[in-house]
Amino acid sequence: MENLDFLNETSLNTLIDEASQLFQSCQNPDLLEQHKAIFFGKNGKITALMKNLGKLSVDEKKVAGAKINAVKKQIEDLLTAQRDLIKNQQLQKRLSAEALDISLPGRNENLGALHPVSQTLQRIENLFASLGFSVADGPEIEEDFYNFTALNTPENHPARSMHDTFYLLDDDGKVLQNYLLRTHTSPIQARFMQQHVGKVAEKNSQNLVEKMPEIRIIAPGRVYRVDSDATHSPMFHQVEGLWIGENISFADLKGVIADFLRKFFETDDLQVRFRPSFFPFTEPSAEIDVAFMSGALKGKWLEIAGCGMVHPNVLKMAGISPEHQRGFAFGFGPDRLTMLRYGINDLRLFFGDGSDLRFAKQFI
Ligand code: PHE
Repeated sequence: MENLDFLNETSLNTLIDEASQLFQSCQNPDLLEQHKAIFFGKNGKITALMKNLGKLSVDEKKVAGAKINAVKKQIEDLLTAQRDLIKNQQLQKRLSAEALDISLPGRNENLGALHPVSQTLQRIENLFASLGFSVADGPEIEEDFYNFTALNTPENHPARSMHDTFYLLDDDGKVLQNYLLRTHTSPIQARFMQQHVGKVAEKNSQNLVEKMPEIRIIAPGRVYRVDSDATHSPMFHQVEGLWIGENISFADLKGVIADFLRKFFETDDLQVRFRPSFFPFTEPSAEIDVAFMSGALKGKWLEIAGCGMVHPNVLKMAGISPEHQRGFAFGFGPDRLTMLRYGINDLRLFFGDGSDLRFAKQFI
């Protein structure tokens, strides 16, 4: 079997050593595949050994074939081992590069929250929604007409004076006629009634609506007056309420207000008082006072709203017949309600220069 000399042990071991060294020193997967060709490629060393087989006898082939296969298998195993090693190393590298330090404290998100007055406004909206009121809106720069005239407030009424109301200047620095910063949310009721009536087609001979779907709205918003001290801010909030129908009475007003206040303050332990008063747009009119039966403010009457039956002139100006429709209106001060609910004694803490995040954060 001298034909098998080319397969002597030494040369085969050398071949395996060569492969082992070559593969093990290789860290690059592409290069490794090129090294593979040195053995298994067209002109590779194992391929060359195989080529010799053709010249051998059947018996020789058996012996030679087995030997070559054994070597081939060893070299293949070396290759696979190195492939796995490289893959593993790369994975480790990636993992350590992408490592997360889970012991690091998280980045603090600064969560915003609603201002205490906004929380009160939402609460009021929700409570009135449960009584069937929807929310209406109007402009803060209001027409003199809606703020005063449509609300039966005569030309010479003190509320119209510069001492009480913020007027606007035009480009020449002159007072802008017919516009002002609304002094209350009541213009929203005038606007709403007008729109509502605009949608009701039929009017009688005097052009007044006699039959219409009920109006039941609240209108929260900012209002402005020339006034500033611990309990007055030049900008503050009001929530207007309006319920117009064929049979709405002062008793309904009392019921709605008392029910709302008990729910708002989450106690039945309070008294509500309607004190006769005057507003040009309601008749009769009243101030609403509330007194708690316990707590720091026990027994003290606190004024929290104005209200009354909508004046016939206001209904007429909106195109509604006061002979057929009537109802009540009220105006709450949600800033005041917030102060009472949280025991705050200075309104200036809410807005502008007096406000402070540390204060606001107590109500989150
Ligand atoms: N608009 C009145 C005010 O600002 C409050 C009010 C509203 C009174 C509705 C009666 C009816 O003081």
